[in-house]
Amino acid sequence: NAMFSWQRSAYHFQPQKNWMNDPDGPLYHKGWYHLFYQYNPDSAIWGNITWGHAVSRDLIHWLYLPLAMVPDCWYDINGVWTGSATLLPDGQIVMLYTGSTNESAQVQNLAYPANLSDPLLLDWLKYPGNPVIVPPAGIETDEFRDPTTAWLGPDGTWRITIGSRFNETIGISLVYQTTNFTDYELLDGVLHAVPGTGMWECVDFYPVAINGSVGLDTSAFGPGIKHVLKASLDDTKVDHYALGTYDPVTDKWTPDNPEEDVGIGLKVDYGRYYASKTFFDQDKQRRILWGWINETDTETADLKKGWASLQTIPRSVLYDNKTGTHLLQWPVKEVESLRLNSTVFEEVLVEAGSIVPLDIGPATQLDILAEFEIESLESNTTDEVSDCGDGAIDRSTFGPFGILVIADDSLSELTPVFFRPVNTSDGSLKTYFCADETRSSKANDVFKQVYGGKVPVLDDENYNMRVLVDHSIVESFAQGGRTVISSRIYPTEAIYGAARLFLFNNATGVNVKATLKIWEMNSAFIRPFPFEEPL
Ligand code: FRU
Repeated sequence: NAMFSWQRSAYHFQPQKNWMNDPDGPLYHKGWYHLFYQYNPDSAIWGNITWGHAVSRDLIHWLYLPLAMVPDCWYDINGVWTGSATLLPDGQIVMLYTGSTNESAQVQNLAYPANLSDPLLLDWLKYPGNPVIVPPAGIETDEFRDPTTAWLGPDGTWRITIGSRFNETIGISLVYQTTNFTDYELLDGVLHAVPGTGMWECVDFYPVAINGSVGLDTSAFGPGIKHVLKASLDDTKVDHYALGTYDPVTDKWTPDNPEEDVGIGLKVDYGRYYASKTFFDQDKQRRILWGWINETDTETADLKKGWASLQTIPRSVLYDNKTGTHLLQWPVKEVESLRLNSTVFEEVLVEAGSIVPLDIGPATQLDILAEFEIESLESNTTDEVSDCGDGAIDRSTFGPFGILVIADDSLSELTPVFFRPVNTSDGSLKTYFCADETRSSKANDVFKQVYGGKVPVLDDENYNMRVLVDHSIVESFAQGGRTVISSRIYPTEAIYGAARLFLFNNATGVNVKATLKIWEMNSAFIRPFPFEEPL
């Protein structure tokens, strides 16, 4: 459908057609990255959930493979739902996933590759003794899903955790212990619980190195390690994480800062983003984060265009040892292989209340690095806006300033990505990083929001952002990845050759100087695997 084809991304993973949601069981095996995903083979809306499967050498170029698992047993006949992979020391691969049963109960099932010597892992076997875990007493049978990757405890037995809900509103994660992945014991208590956060979907639990140097295997523990607990909140459709300490003897996790606990503090991504999952890349010693980016147009539009959803560019995740309070997310370095010609702009003055065009040619596929310095103070101070406000039109003394992506020449459509430093009562500045979709499209039937959150900017730092633009998706990273925002936008004018890039400064009291390096991005090869014989 030509009308919608502009919205397809050029270098983000998306299915050839139909509906996709959560990333499932990501892993690296014999030279290939594997991505499985919640997939409806029949339609561009959710339903008939199977596991789609794709492989890549570099996390950027992908080959679609045949479906890995379909709902064909009583214990998953209503859907092969989300799950995670565990690589065992002897080379076995264990896949645990949630099945929605013939009675729509949520149970956990075991599957494994039929042939480990196949780098493509084409065939998957479901364990004949499935389900291996059923909902325990006191838990609603339809609030018990998405098992994590297993980790090995110091006692030599494996553990997994599964999100749920207790007493209607308390988000919890249960811990199960196993030696063989077929028999499980529910441990007393929970890994963690947070009142008021509701059902926890897609829990992720993993260690990070405090020195911020490398990614860690999921079983790593000991001094110099913190643990991240992430839950996807079913009530608000937001992925929240917190940093804390895991006690492998009691199997309890404690947040560093109870006021920033899971579900009430930091978001993995402040934009359109959900059901994220990490895996440890044993080849490159890094932890990689996937996240699902849904559409924000109508179901009717999705059916017309014939597909729905994207995955983010995979991000490496490290602990930010400069703040000690945040993770750092950064697009995997392989995405830089798509960089084509670049343009540099140095110390461009952007005066308070002005817009500066950046003449870079085509602006639909970009990788943008931008750094801003507050240049001079004007006398013009304004009432403060306390956060992202109503978007880029909302002026305050020190912000907003940033870039306008996917804008047309006449600025009838534009998406500002910006910083807003705000004065606080103690005289220091607190900074918000925001993406404002409200003027991104002339279409009325798309969801447009002002997204954003706080970002720590340390004394010796400039304001810096990296922004990946790919047609209808914009992924924005502030301060090296402390705060991240993914947006979906559906312009009607600012498409193909009409898309432009601008600098803007809508502060009332400061001029800024911007230095940028902008690459045009190539498209990735994302296509069916070229099997020699019909399957
Ligand atoms: C999250 C989720 C999971 C579930 C899957 C079903 O988006 O609801 O909890 O396993 O999607 O497709």
